Parts: sequence; structure tokens; C-alpha cells
Amino acid sequence: MNDVNALLVEKILKLKKKRNAVILVHNYQLGEIQDIADFVGDSLELSQNAAKVKADVIVFCGVHFMAETAAITCPEATVLLPDRHAGCPMANMITAEQLRQKKKELPNATVVCYINSTAAVKAESDVCCTSANAVKVAESIDNNEILFVPDQYLGHYVSTRVNKKFHLWPGYCPTHVRIQPQDILQIKKENPRAKAMVHPECRPDVIAVADDVMSTGGMIRYAKRDDVQELIVGTELGIIHRLKKENPGKKFIPVSVQAVCPNMKLITLEKVLWSLEEMRPVVKVPEATRLKAKTAVDRMLAIV
Ligand code: 13P
Ligand code: SF4
Repeated sequence: MNDVNALLVEKILKLKKKRNAVILVHNYQLGEIQDIADFVGDSLELSQNAAKVKADVIVFCGVHFMAETAAITCPEATVLLPDRHAGCPMANMITAEQLRQKKKELPNATVVCYINSTAAVKAESDVCCTSANAVKVAESIDNNEILFVPDQYLGHYVSTRVNKKFHLWPGYCPTHVRIQPQDILQIKKENPRAKAMVHPECRPDVIAVADDVMSTGGMIRYAKRDDVQELIVGTELGIIHRLKKENPGKKFIPVSVQAVCPNMKLITLEKVLWSLEEMRPVVKVPEATRLKAKTAVDRMLAIV
């Protein structure tokens, strides 16, 4: 760590204590942000963690829908997102009004929303899911017809695992769609012993050539297995930092240098410090929306 970062970290940790704050960090964040975390995880682990937080302040190092989910489950805490522009483009591919319209067209469908959605969309949904539990959530629903929003590719993946009728909203992750099947095939040719694991936000033609499909938290656990020494990693590049840190000596090969989420990279040490000093930007959800969205999130948390 260079001197400037060391100084920033020292100031952040001091201020964190003074504010009684916790720092929650997603697996795609910059390495230096992961290294100051109280907890690093995938969307499911982070929402489970946020629901249990006892601190006065949550500094959420991730994207807007993640901070919003913390504000939904932990209303007593002040939730800070150190860069208010850190959004998830996929979450903005459906509005609450569009969902209300679709529900009118499909009155018998149960609405499952990916956690990568706004609080207003969650409030219009029956149950939430993450990439770690989407199959389980869909299986648990006592209805054969599901409207899945907003990620068509996660929805498609779930539809190949669960025997129900799925209606898929045409959203997608701009980062994961950059991953191509040829990327995996080429790396496999050069590294014949390596297994390829990909995120379910990848396109079906990518999933078809992968060895396994899992959330970022699933990848972290999979990499720790003794029989795994080389892995081809089919998701956003930020996860490589944690994989290497927790598994010295193992080989992790990113599937594509294109797989970068620019929004995740907006959070820096400088912004975390500024955010804790200024106590902004605060992420808050209007109470009526929060209560409805919480029902969808709580249903998910009860399933997993
Ligand atoms: P995970 O829940 O698997 O961490 O995924 C979050 C996300 O935004 C993937 O692009
Ligand atoms: Fe959204 Fe994709 Fe970034 Fe995840 S990687 S936060 S889905 S844009």
C-alpha cells in the first residue's frame, strides 16, 4: 500500500469508529476498498448482513440498489453510498410503472424481481431473489407462471432449472454480456486443467460452454476447495482480488478483460473518507415503498 492510501485508511478507520459505522463491500469493488471492509460478499450475503447490522451508519461500497436494499432492511441506520452516481444500469432497465403495466397483461403470474432492481420495482414484486438463490426462490413459489424482472439472462438460466412457465423482462447486465463463448473456449484450450465458472448474468451461449454457474459468493466458496487449483473466472474482474488473497498459490484466469463494471469502480478510498466526514450521500427509501419492498426482500430471506 502506498503512503497516501495508508493515510486515507488510517483516517477512515478512525472516523468509522467515531461514527459507529460498518463498511459493507461487494466482491466487485476495488481491492483497496475490499481491504477496509467489515464484510465483503455477494448481494445475498450483503443483504443478510445489512438486515442484522447494529451500527448507526452503513457505508455501502457497491452500487445504488445494494445500498437501497440495506436502507430497506435496516431503516434505523444511516446508509451512505460514497458516490451517488454508482448505479446499476440493469436495475434501471425497468420502472415501477412498466412493471405495473406488465402485471396487468399477466394477472396470473407471480412476480420475481432480481435484487438488481430499484426499491420501487421491489415494491411491485411478490418476491425478490439474488443470483445465489434464484433457482430456490422460483422452486418455492406455489404457482406455475412466473414474471421474472429485470435480467433476461438470469431469468433464462432459472427457466432451464425450474419447470415452470417464465415471462422474461428484456433487461441485461452490460458488463456480463461482453463475455463471449470464444473467450472461455480459447482459455480452456490454453489451460486444459482449469474449470470455467461463470455468473448467471452471462448469456446462454456462454453458460453452455462453462463448467459451472454461480453467484460471486458461490465462486469464492468453490475456489477454496482442495481439488480446485486453476479457475477460469467468468464475471466482473474485481473478484480476482479476493480470490487471490484468500487462495495464495492458486491460479485465477479472468475470462475477459472487458468484464469491468465502471459503476462498481466509482467507489474510492477518498470518496469513502469524504462520505464519512460529510455523512452523505444518504440513500433513503420513502416509507410506503420501503414497507412493500421489504415484504419481497423478507420473503426471499425466509427462503434461504
Ligand atoms: P452477486 O450477487 O453474484 O454478487 O452479483 C451481483 C451483481 O451485480 C452481478 O453483476
Ligand atoms: Fe449491474 Fe452488471 Fe454492474 Fe452487476 S456488474 S452492478 S449487474 S452493471
